Amino acid sequence: MRPFKQTLAAVAAPVLGVSEADVLALIEYPPQPELGDLALPCFRFARTLRRNPNEIAKEVADALSKSGQFQAVETAGAYVNVKLDRARAAADIVGAAARDVDRFFSRARGGGEKVAIDYSSPNIAKPFGVGHLRSTVIGQSIKRLLDLDGYTTIGVNHLGDWGTQFGKNIVAYLRWGDEETVRRDPVKELFRLYVRFHEEAKEHPELEDEARAWFKRLEDGDPEAVRLWRWFIDESLKAFRSMYDLLGVSFDHYLGESFYNDKMQAVIDELQKRGLLVESEGAEVVDLSQWDMPPCIIRKSDGATIYATRDLAAALYRHDVLGAEHLIYVVGAEQTLHFQQVFKVLELMGRPWAKNCRHVAFGMMKFNGERLSTRRGKIVYLEDVLTQAIAEARRIIEEKNPDLEDKEDVARAVGVGAVIFNDLKTYRMHDPDFRFEDVLNFDGETGPYVQYTHARACSVLRKAQAQGLAVPEMIRFAAVTDAEWRLVRQLSIAGESFERAVDEMDPSLMARFVLDVCHAFNRFYHDEPILAAPEGVREARLALTDAVRAVIAKSLYLLGLEAPTAM
Ligand code: ARG
Repeated sequence: MRPFKQTLAAVAAPVLGVSEADVLALIEYPPQPELGDLALPCFRFARTLRRNPNEIAKEVADALSKSGQFQAVETAGAYVNVKLDRARAAADIVGAAARDVDRFFSRARGGGEKVAIDYSSPNIAKPFGVGHLRSTVIGQSIKRLLDLDGYTTIGVNHLGDWGTQFGKNIVAYLRWGDEETVRRDPVKELFRLYVRFHEEAKEHPELEDEARAWFKRLEDGDPEAVRLWRWFIDESLKAFRSMYDLLGVSFDHYLGESFYNDKMQAVIDELQKRGLLVESEGAEVVDLSQWDMPPCIIRKSDGATIYATRDLAAALYRHDVLGAEHLIYVVGAEQTLHFQQVFKVLELMGRPWAKNCRHVAFGMMKFNGERLSTRRGKIVYLEDVLTQAIAEARRIIEEKNPDLEDKEDVARAVGVGAVIFNDLKTYRMHDPDFRFEDVLNFDGETGPYVQYTHARACSVLRKAQAQGLAVPEMIRFAAVTDAEWRLVRQLSIAGESFERAVDEMDPSLMARFVLDVCHAFNRFYHDEPILAAPEGVREARLALTDAVRAVIAKSLYLLGLEAPTAM
């Protein structure tokens, strides 16, 4: 829907002799509604127009009054303050949300353009710690945001399923493992074997040679090596998939690093042909010193795994075969240099779409205020965290609402939602902290709080229906109270919050938005009767409640959370 900001900008821009976008960027929402609903500071224009900003403000105010679009227009110094016609604006906004909630958020700017999004991409045979949660849930949310904005998204899981560590896995398994144990808990068992390998290798360095030999056999396609490797991957994947199911995360493709084994030679040949490869200490590299970057290693002197080469092959595949015009990588900030190098090499390879590659980085997850480190054995398993969160949600439901239907489903949705929301509400580049007592707090800024507010709106609507009251088709507000107005104003920024979340690829902006909707709704709910309101008012409030329900449900979906209708 067209936000009021835009109406204001459209009228003011010609007066100021600038573009609508320039005006839009300056419009503010005054924190106190008494001051107005929108404000435009005119200081900026004083220099170019060579006039006193207060006079400019007066002239803009004049034009806005004449437009007849606003209830009241006033100036305060260089500020133009605008009040909207509350009744009309409320009916517009509630009506728009009711008509089509997708369009309420989105103008579908993507035009069907294809975007490949690389997210989660864990290293197999290593446990899925809470640290990997970030890429998984940020990526899933970005995928949903882009889909709603009209892009065609392709979700790719770039599994780390190749490399010298598989030689170690094989050696450790053959020496200390057994089939039964791996089958029972593949991820933890393979990790345990991997850790044991490193411990034993300190005493017996010959194990390293053995592992290298096994990896060589794997690379050469030795059937026994391939069989074991395949089996490790398959078992681990089963475990990862059940984790993804629990989180409600999905991918269009699982294309692990090993998928590119036979696609790297073409990359190397092309680099050679273009004269981009140089030798450096036995390795083959692309020199990037001109751009102040260390060389991008293409082939190591020992021929071992080359992460960057795989990423080059993968980028070409995503563009050429999958047809993606934009490539997005949701990967921790510690890999920033790696992606800068890869994108630069793609550019040097003459791929104009290299400019459409974007590394969406993020900060590191902390647990009770502490950094996690695999090396010090400080690993917190996501599976355990989710199980505990669900158990805790179950306990709270048992205490607050023991007669609830589908208790188990709701406990799962709330427990998992709590973990996801805690991650996503933090600004992407910051380090979120995970503390059980905060994450599941129904009164804090949490997933359960948002889900509970949604269930509350649903419950009001259910009661209305039971009393034979329907949400009206035609929405009419007579007078709009302050509590209603605050809520309507908050709903009205759905579109701009959504577009900012897409542009900055930051789900936390969506999380912030929906938290503010919940705060405004809960205040409204406490301040004003809904079902007990006089006829006419009651219908308008039901319509408002229904709009809130739809907007929260859509926001939760965009963040990757479920929205139970009762809690
Ligand atoms: N497997 C890598 C890791 O866990 C992340 C892969 C990210 N994606 C990529 N195309 N490099 O560190």
